[in-house]
Order: sequence, then C-alpha cells, then structure tokens
Amino acid sequence: MSSLIEQAAQRLEQLRQAGAEMPAAPVVQTIGAAQEPVNEPHSAFLSRRVEIDLEALAAAGIVSPYAPRSQIADQFRVIKRPLIRNAMGKGASSIAHGNLIMVTSALAGEGKTFTAINLAMSMTTELDYTVMLVDADVPRPSVMKVLGLPEGPGLLDLVIGESGDMSSMLLKTNIDKLTILPIGTPHARATELLASDAMVRLLDEMANRYPDRIIIFDSPPLLLTTEARVLASHMGQVVVVVQAGRTLQSEVRQALATIEACPVKLLLLNQARTGSKGGYGYGYGYGYGYGSGEQQQA
Ligand SMILES: Nc1ncnc2c1ncn2[C@@H]1O[C@H](COP(=O)(O)OP(=O)(O)OP(=O)(O)O)[C@@H](O)[C@H]1O
Ligand SMILES: [Mg+2]
Repeated sequence: MSSLIEQAAQRLEQLRQAGAEMPAAPVVQTIGAAQEPVNEPHSAFLSRRVEIDLEALAAAGIVSPYAPRSQIADQFRVIKRPLIRNAMGKGASSIAHGNLIMVTSALAGEGKTFTAINLAMSMTTELDYTVMLVDADVPRPSVMKVLGLPEGPGLLDLVIGESGDMSSMLLKTNIDKLTILPIGTPHARATELLASDAMVRLLDEMANRYPDRIIIFDSPPLLLTTEARVLASHMGQVVVVVQAGRTLQSEVRQALATIEACPVKLLLLNQARTGSKGGYGYGYGYGYGYGSGEQQQA
C-alpha cells in the first residue's frame, strides 16, 4: 500500500516540478486511514481510481473503447455477444452465476490475459451493463502489468478476509463502466485459496450484488492447477482459450473434461499467425456452443 501511495505522490510531484498541468484526477488516489479524502463526495464509498493509458492500450493491440474501429474490436464484438446473452439470462433459461465469466486455457501462455482484457474492454461499450475485471491468475498475475497499472490489494486479501471490503479494493478507472480487482497480496497458499470456501462465498456475493454487472476472471490454466477447476465449477460461464497450432487436441479435450460440470463452456480459438503479417485472429471453434447446460456440445 505504502509503495502505491509513494508512487502516486512521486509522480504528482514530478508533474508539479515539470510545471505540467495537473491531471483532473490523481494517477492513483488511495484513501486510507492515514489520508484524508480530498473533496470526496461519497467518503463512505472508499474506492480508488486509476488512469489507464488508452493510447498505449490501443498500440498494444487491445480494444480501446474510445478508439476507432479495429479488427480486434470487431472480433470481440462477435465473441462477447453470446456471453452477454447468457450473463443476463435472456436465453430460454437463466444460468446460475451467468454473470461470472472465467477465462482460462489448457496450458500457460495461450492468450488468457489478452482475451480477458479485450473482453472486458469490449463489454464496456455496452450501455446496459458494467464490467469488473478480476485478476485471478495466482501463479502468473499480469492484468495490472498489461494495463500499465501498479499492483495493490485485491482478490487474495478479500479471500483471506483480514483487511478491507471489496469497495475499498476495487479500482475505478477512466473507462466509466470498468472496475478492476487486482490479484492482491502474494500469499504462501495462494493457489489453494482459489478453491477455498471463502472464495466460494466471495463469488456468490460478487455474482449477486449487482445484477447488471458482468465479472471477468483472468484465471490459471486448467491442466496446471487443480484449483482452477474448482474455481471453474462456481462460474456461470467458462471461456477456454486455445492457441491454435500449439495446443494438442488431446490437451484441449482433457481440459474440457475437467470442467464438464460447468453450465456454459466456450472454446475460443486464438489463431496465431493466420494473417499474412503473422498476426493473430480469433474465432469460436470445434462446434462448441453455449446456452443452457443441456445444449452445449454440438
Ligand atoms: N490474439 C492475439 N493477438 C495478439 N497478441 C496476442 C493474442 N493472443 C495472445 N497474444 C500475445 O501473446 C502473449 C501471451 O498471451 P497472454 O499473456 O494473454 O497469455 P496467457 O494465457 O495469459 O499466459 P499466462 O499463462 O502466462 O498467463 C502476450 O504477449 C499477448 O499479448
Ligand atoms: Mg496471463
């Protein structure tokens, strides 16, 4: 915590010394016991605010809600649609915890974080919903790094339950509808925490608090940690990212078998090097569908 405050203070001081115009909102506004909230209209709601560099985001090939159309934005416009439909129970039958969406994969490095962030960004352009992006990849957390934001308290602290409540850890961002929950303070038994009863209670609370909020979890790979499977069993929807041309079909099958009980499973093919310039592309693959539990695997 203190390093967050120090970093923010240093950054502001640097800006001041450089004679720069002060930003409308501090880069990181941390409200804690030692700090007086400055002109905080709702001081009971202790939420911090961070500034995402939207230009850097667009340059990194990530959907930016204020950028003009891009190929990646078009792809995610298609990818998000069934997830939103399921999340809001607009289908034939509603799905328990449908608004909890886990992004995972069979193995490491298949594009989970990239997908989770892009999905979240793409969903922020929807009028009717808010979006919360949660870093739950305990072995390799990287949401904050990719977004250029400092780590801070988050998910693991909430699960342990020793400090603060969710509203004090949730980061508001310069994208109106987007909030972020970092992974939180490293913990010796962090992976086990994902499969704990406390985690289950937390997920339940998250799913039910705001019916119009979609929550996206960047999660560990299914074949590398058993806890990821337990986590998946409490999610309404699971997106399994598959890096085409690398992950074996048998590994994909094995990964899907670990989440058999999940109501909605969605296989997302991350097609590396499909374009002439060696770029990536996305597509849903292998005939897996979504909807209620009975009608998935086509
Ligand atoms: N569709 C894509 N287009 C462009 N770049 C991509 C795409 N998918 C993945 N990448 C890039 O590939 C790298 C690996 O992706 P990413 O970090 O999202 O994988 P991961 O599954 O989260 O890995 P880990 O298991 O380490 O958490 C990153 O540099 C990411 O930006
Ligand atoms: Mg990752």
